[in-house]
Amino acid sequence: MNWSILSVSIPVHDPEKSKSFYQLLFPYNEKQESYYQSMFKKEESIFFGNKGLGLRLFKPKPDLELKNMIQSRRSYISILVDNIFNIKKNLEQRQIKFIFDDPSDSSPFYSLHVQEPSLNLIHFVQDSNGFNKEFSSWSMGLDWGIHHMNLESLDVRKSIDFFTNLIGMDEGKWLAPSNKGDFSIDPSELAILPLSNNNRGLHVIKPDDGFGYRNNFAHNPSIGGHPAFTVKDLSSVKAKLDKEHILYSDAKVYAMPGFHQIYLYDTNANMLEVNQAV
Ligand SMILES: [Fe+2]
Repeated sequence: MNWSILSVSIPVHDPEKSKSFYQLLFPYNEKQESYYQSMFKKEESIFFGNKGLGLRLFKPKPDLELKNMIQSRRSYISILVDNIFNIKKNLEQRQIKFIFDDPSDSSPFYSLHVQEPSLNLIHFVQDSNGFNKEFSSWSMGLDWGIHHMNLESLDVRKSIDFFTNLIGMDEGKWLAPSNKGDFSIDPSELAILPLSNNNRGLHVIKPDDGFGYRNNFAHNPSIGGHPAFTVKDLSSVKAKLDKEHILYSDAKVYAMPGFHQIYLYDTNANMLEVNQAV
């Protein structure tokens, strides 16, 4: 199956306030073209990126006001696929519930919302105009992109079974640097569904309560999931965070060869990773 990352949606209390925070990481694109944005009209949203690719900040509603809709309290990923009907058929066969939306006048896309076995919300999208691998939040033509989405899973192998056998993704092998930090790359504790040969894609990790402590970080990136953004100039991001007295863990190169990583919380305590190819 072909897939790519369309966007990451992050729940925030006050989208306008959060917009200023995220501008510390990368600029807000004033000249956005409209494309995928129409799919997310049910929620108040602010898009960073272009054509609806990239980052979306959204304001969740009270759950009891929702009708035929599911929302996530955590950051979640929207994935472009080329076989949404296969996914639908496989979920039906395993009697897994999902919400399926056909294209409409206002949004010409197929959309499927489902929870994987650890109840992370996953949003699949198919573009009726066809699948284009280059159309993704990694290659938006901007100075930043989404490198990976990390999902916390209470049963990594069950989650991977879902993504490989029901969705049709391929599992890869975690590539660790020679100076690897103190964490497990046993496939029952950390697994990867790669989009590249540099650990880009979907990461699935078992929560590890000592992860932050053992690696000397103020943050624990194995808890709660996180999106990871690749920027061109991490030192300028760090300088802005320093200036605003925002706490971050500078992990350096410790988990992925060739990537300098930092971790921080946004103003709503959503875990974020920002990295730079070095
Ligand atoms: Fe990460």
